[in-house]
Amino acid sequence: MQKEHKKFYILGNWKMQVRGTTAQELLVKTATLVASENFSPHLHVSVFPPFTYLDRARYVLAESPAYLGAQNVSSEMSGALTGQISILDLQDLGVFYALLGHAEVRALLHETDAGVAKKAALCSDVGIVPVVCFGADVTKTPAQHAECILKMSEGVRKMILAYEPIGAIGTGVTPSLEHVVDVVEGAHELLDRYKIAGEVVYGGSVNAENIESFMSTSVDGVLVGGSSHTAKVWTDLMMRANKFMQR
Ligand code: PGA
Repeated sequence: MQKEHKKFYILGNWKMQVRGTTAQELLVKTATLVASENFSPHLHVSVFPPFTYLDRARYVLAESPAYLGAQNVSSEMSGALTGQISILDLQDLGVFYALLGHAEVRALLHETDAGVAKKAALCSDVGIVPVVCFGADVTKTPAQHAECILKMSEGVRKMILAYEPIGAIGTGVTPSLEHVVDVVEGAHELLDRYKIAGEVVYGGSVNAENIESFMSTSVDGVLVGGSSHTAKVWTDLMMRANKFMQR
C-alpha cells in the first residue's frame, strides 16, 4: 500500500530569464508532465512567467492541473500608474498566485514590508493567493522575522509564505535542513496563532538533487528559481519529486 502524502508545492519562478522557444517548451512540458497519468495529485505545481507570457501560459496550461503565478503586481487596483500591472489584469489572465516581496524586488524596486502588505490585501480581496517572501535579511532575529510576517499578512486569510534567505538565492548553497525546518515551523505556528490558512515553503538553490531532502521534512514546498528555467532541468526536478511521492 502506498504511504499517505500531504500536498507538496513546487513553484517555478522564471524571473527575467526565460523567453521565446524556451518559454514555449517549458510550458508545454510542464502541462504534459503534470497532466500525465502517473503524476502524483499531491504535487501542486505552478509557474511564474514574466507578465508578457501570462496570456500564452494560461492557454498552454489550460487543460493541465498546473497553476499560474505572476511575479509581482501593483499596490493599486487602478490609476494613472504607467508601467504597472493591476491585480484586475492578473485576475483576467486566470492568475492564481502573485509572488510578493522577493529579495530581488526589494533590492531593485525598493519593495518594503508595508508595500507587500498592501499588495497581499489586494490579492486577498480578489481571490488571488499571495506568495509572500520573508527572511532574506539574515541579520534579523526570529522575533523580527515574525513581526515582518505579521505586518505583511494583515487582513490576509490565505497565503503561502516563502522563506528565502538571501545567501541561498542563486548561489548553489542551501542552509542546513534543521535551520530551514526551524524557520518553517516557526512561521507555521504564527499562521496558526493568527488563524491564517497557509503553507510555508523554502526557496534558494533548490534543484533536482536536493528536492527530496526538503520533501522528507515538514516543509510544505519549494520556490525554485534557476532550476525552473530550462525544460530538461525543470522536468528532472518534477520527476524526482514525483518519484519521491510514489514511494
Ligand atoms: P534560485 O532562486 O532557485 O535560483 O536560488 C530562488 C528564488 O529566487 O526564488
